Amino acid sequence: MATTLFFLLFFTPFLYSAAAPNHNAPQDLVRSSCINASYPSLCLRTLSSYSGPTGTPRDLAQAAVKVGLARARKASTYLKTSVTGKSERERAALSDCVEQMAESVDELSKTLSELKHLRGETFEFQMSNARTWVSAALTYEDTCVDGFEGVDRKVKGDVKKKITNVAMVTSNALYMIRRLDESGGLNR
Ligand SMILES: *[C@@H]1O[C@H](CO)[C@@H](O)[C@H](O)[C@H]1NC(C)=O
Repeated sequence: MATTLFFLLFFTPFLYSAAAPNHNAPQDLVRSSCINASYPSLCLRTLSSYSGPTGTPRDLAQAAVKVGLARARKASTYLKTSVTGKSERERAALSDCVEQMAESVDELSKTLSELKHLRGETFEFQMSNARTWVSAALTYEDTCVDGFEGVDRKVKGDVKKKITNVAMVTSNALYMIRRLDESGGLNR
């Protein structure tokens, strides 16, 4: 009895992992791709729960940009609705940030569209565009956070938390684009 229990406890996990590699293939790619991302656990959380395809480096780059876009849009809505009842200084920072997030959304949309239309003969050029635009999106997000220096701590804290999260997923998206570039292009 004790021996059986020992067997089950210690060997069942190995049996499972040996028996089911194929079912987990996309998740394995998510895992191995997130390992060296800027924010690995956030990468894992956002991409392993992603509802679309994640089976190739190209899927992952698109998925990561889509996650960034969704969060940037959501943060933008939050900024717009949090203007009421704020001081002039706070409203100014919020309104600047709304503009910067709109630019960021713009850059990420362009990137997503580029990733959806990758072609073999222009791959390197397109990947270079994607890197440039995601970097620009990241800069807009950082600028937004910086604009809250000297603003009421509560307001700043709320905004900072939201936008920093957007910047972290954006940074992970940039990493996935680099990985796609290094993976050798469209055939992977
Ligand atoms: C992660 O980084 C380490 C150290 O640079 C490297 O040895 C490893 O191959 C990388 N793994 C992946 C999956 O990129």
